[in-house]
Amino acid sequence: MMTIKETFPVTAGDMTCAGDVSARIKRQMKQVGVPAAVMRRVSVGTYEAEINLVIHSLGGQIDYEMTEEKITIRVVDNGPGIPDLKKAMTEGWSTASNEVRNMGFGAGMGLPNMKRNADEFQIESTVGVGTDITMVFNI
Ligand SMILES: Nc1ncnc2c1ncn2[C@@H]1O[C@H](COP(=O)(O)OP(=O)(O)O)[C@@H](O)[C@H]1O
Ligand SMILES: [Mg+2]
Repeated sequence: MMTIKETFPVTAGDMTCAGDVSARIKRQMKQVGVPAAVMRRVSVGTYEAEINLVIHSLGGQIDYEMTEEKITIRVVDNGPGIPDLKKAMTEGWSTASNEVRNMGFGAGMGLPNMKRNADEFQIESTVGVGTDITMVFNI
């Protein structure tokens, strides 16, 4: 069975390339003919996760794995971790700075959107260690 696997590093704080990884993953999906509706859901989830790595984390990576049945996106960062996952998952809740908000981010919809768009969503976070998110999208 066909499997495509790739790992992309994401640098903290670098808004100039925020969105690049999700754009590359979208191109990959297009090349192999993933249905548009699936592509859209993966793109939204991956973009939100990537922006969070840039604006909230100390940096990390996005792993992309595709089989004929599903696309799995795993997002792991190097901290600082999320102290209250329940709050973080609440629509509209955000700790984004004014600077980040002025750039159009920090609406507090990223994590809820990831959960809504994925067929399976898992998040684990440990303060001082980091955050680990897995999203599975059925094709
Ligand atoms: N990778 C991460 N590392 C640390 N904190 C995070 C991370 N992702 C999300 N958070 C926390 O969860 C909150 C909610 O995230 P999200 O729903 O994406 O909204 P937003 O990014 O607009 O603030 C963030 O404001 C932040 O406090
Ligand atoms: Mg966000």
